Amino acid sequence: MTLPINVVVLAAGMGKRMKSDLPKVLHPLAGKPLLGHVLDCARSLKPKSLTVVYGHGGNIVPETMAASDLHFALQAPQLGTGHAVAQALTHLDEAAPTLVLYGDVPLTKAETLEKLVTAAGGDKLAILTVLLQDPTGYGRIVRNAKGAIERIVEQKDASQAEREIREINTGILVMPTVAMKRWLSKLSNNNAQGEYYLTDVVAAAVSEGVEVLATHPDAEWETLGVNSKVQLAELERVYQLNLATALLEDGVMLADPARIDIRGHLRCGRDVSIDVGCVFEGEVTIGDGASIGPYCVIRNASIGAGAQLLAYSHIEQATVGEQARVGPFARLRPGTSLGEHAHVGNFVELKNTAMAAHAKANHLAYVGDAQVGQRVNIGAGTITCNYDGANKYQTIIEDDAFIGSDSQLVAPVRVGKGATLGAGTTLTKDAPAGMLTVSRSKQVTVEGWQRPVKTKKTS
Ligand code: UD1
Ligand code: CA
Repeated sequence: MTLPINVVVLAAGMGKRMKSDLPKVLHPLAGKPLLGHVLDCARSLKPKSLTVVYGHGGNIVPETMAASDLHFALQAPQLGTGHAVAQALTHLDEAAPTLVLYGDVPLTKAETLEKLVTAAGGDKLAILTVLLQDPTGYGRIVRNAKGAIERIVEQKDASQAEREIREINTGILVMPTVAMKRWLSKLSNNNAQGEYYLTDVVAAAVSEGVEVLATHPDAEWETLGVNSKVQLAELERVYQLNLATALLEDGVMLADPARIDIRGHLRCGRDVSIDVGCVFEGEVTIGDGASIGPYCVIRNASIGAGAQLLAYSHIEQATVGEQARVGPFARLRPGTSLGEHAHVGNFVELKNTAMAAHAKANHLAYVGDAQVGQRVNIGAGTITCNYDGANKYQTIIEDDAFIGSDSQLVAPVRVGKGATLGAGTTLTKDAPAGMLTVSRSKQVTVEGWQRPVKTKKTS
C-alpha cells in the first residue's frame, strides 16, 4: 500500500440474530474470529493506525484480540455507525485518510481496499458499492442526473422510488480525516432509527464540494456481512471453496472441493491428493506425491514427499517422513516424528516420540516419550509405561530391536541394538543388545487334568 491510511473497524454492534453469548465478531470463520480476518486484511495495508470500536460484550473483544499494533475504543451506548467512528478519533493521524471497515464483513480482499483507497487519494471520499439483485435492507446510493453520488439513504428512511435503487452501500468507505471529523461533529440522529449515521457524511461532503466516488469489488461475497449463523455458515463455504479452488488450480487433486476444511494455511507440493472430509488446521505442509486418505484431521504438521496417510488418521504437531505410511485410524500426538518409510498402523498412538527410518508399529500400541531406532518392529499391544502418575520417563529402543506383542516397557528403560523382547514381556530393566529378554513365567502343561463337569441338581 503506497498511501498511508488510518483504519477504523466497527465492531460494537450486538449481533442479536447470532443468538449467542459470544460477541458476533468473535465467532470463528475457518477457525479464526471474524474480526481476526478483518484485522489481518487491514494489517496487509500497513496502516498508520488501526482501531477497533467495541462495545457489546464488554471487554471480551479487546481481551481476545489484544495486539501491540491495535487501539481499542469503547462505544457505549451504541448510537449508530457515525457515533461509532467518532469514538476512534483520538487514535487517528490527521495527515492520512481514514478507511472504515466492519468487524462482521470478513472476506473483503486487500486489493479491493487498495483500489478504493487509491481512488480516494488524499482529498476525495470513496465508497465501496455493489449492484444487488435484491437490495432490501441496505443503504442505497443516490446519484444525480449526471450520475454523480449525492447521498446515501437507509432502507428505513428511503422513499418508494429510492428503494428501487439497486446500487448499495457496502458500508466500507474512506475519506480525508480532518474533513471526516468536521462532518461527524455535525451529524444528527433525526432519522427513522434515531441513530447517528456514518452514511450522512456523504451528503456533507457533496455540500462542501468534495468529490465523492465509488469503486466495486470483484465478487459480491467480499462485501457480505454476518448477521446470523446461517450467514456465517454460508460465508464459511464461500471461503473454503475459494481455498479449494486455489489448491485445484495449483494442481492438487481434491476428491471433492466441497468437502475439505482448511483452518489456517495448507501448502502442498506437486501431485498431492486429498480425499474427502479432511480438516487441516494451523500450518500444514504436504510434500510432493503424498496422499491423504478420507477424514483425516491434520494440525500443525508436515507430511513428507510420497507419504501415505490412510483414512481417519489424526495428526497434531508431528512430522511424517518421506514415503512413510500412517493409518488407518492412527494418532500422532505433539512431538512425534516419523522417519522415511516408517509405518504406523491402526489404533497406534504416538506421543513425543521419534521413530527412525523403516521402523514399524503396525497395530494397537501406545508409544510415548520414546526414541525408536531404525528398522525396529513394535508388536501389537505394546505399551510404553511412560508415566508413574507424577513424572514422565523416556524409553529408548535401539536400531533393529524387535518388541514382541503385548509387551510393556516401564520407563525409564532401554532396549539395546538388535535385542528381542518375547511376547508379553514387562520390561523393568534394560534389555541387552542382541539377546532375547522375556519376563513371562514358563509355560506348563498339567498332565491328567480334567475339565470340571456340571453337578446334577437334586430337587
Ligand atoms: C449499515 C449502513 C448501510 C449499509 C450496511 C451494510 C449506516 C447508517 N448504514 O447499515 O448503509 O448498507 O451497513 O451492511 O451506516 N456498529 C457499531 N456501533 C453502532 C452501530 C453499528 O459499531 O452504534 C457496527 C456494527 O457492529 C457493524 C457495523 O457497524 O459491524 C454496521 O452496523 P449495522 O447496524 O449492521 O448497520 P446497518 O443498519 O446494517
Ligand atoms: Ca448490518
